[in-house]
Amino acid sequence: MAGKPESRSSLREAALAAMEHAYAPYSNFRVGAALLTADGKLVTGCNIENSVFGLAICAETLAIASAVSQGITEFDEIAIATEDVEPTPPCGTCRQVLSEFAPNITISSYTRDGKEATWSLDELLPHAFVLNPSRGRM
Ligand code: THU
Repeated sequence: MAGKPESRSSLREAALAAMEHAYAPYSNFRVGAALLTADGKLVTGCNIENSVFGLAICAETLAIASAVSQGITEFDEIAIATEDVEPTPPCGTCRQVLSEFAPNITISSYTRDGKEATWSLDELLPHAFVLNPSRGRM
């Protein structure tokens, strides 16, 4: 498993803290995410919902978008925190977003009361779609 123990616990704490910023008045399902970048930085995200339900932004996708917008594109780990009673894996869309930048990323999910689950992205999204630029051209 990648990552030093101290960085894993700061990552978990950062995900739990990011969850507090979630805007989820429609689902009441608050999510926080914290990325550990290859150069040791932490970048966080939370879910942000909208009156138009389909516009909801997931915590993991926002963390990736925030990092990429800062010029950071290499990641080692991501921690997810929710208020669910069991650790929840990222949704399918977020798996694909993660795979664009970090196909080998380690994903850990935490509950408030200390339950934890860890997966590799490859386990959660085998055979990820990768666009071959020549595909579809005549
Ligand atoms: N959500 C996330 O933030 N990440 C996921 O991986 C799954 C779902 C959010 C979207 C929505 O605001 C709420 O959780 C319920 O689906």
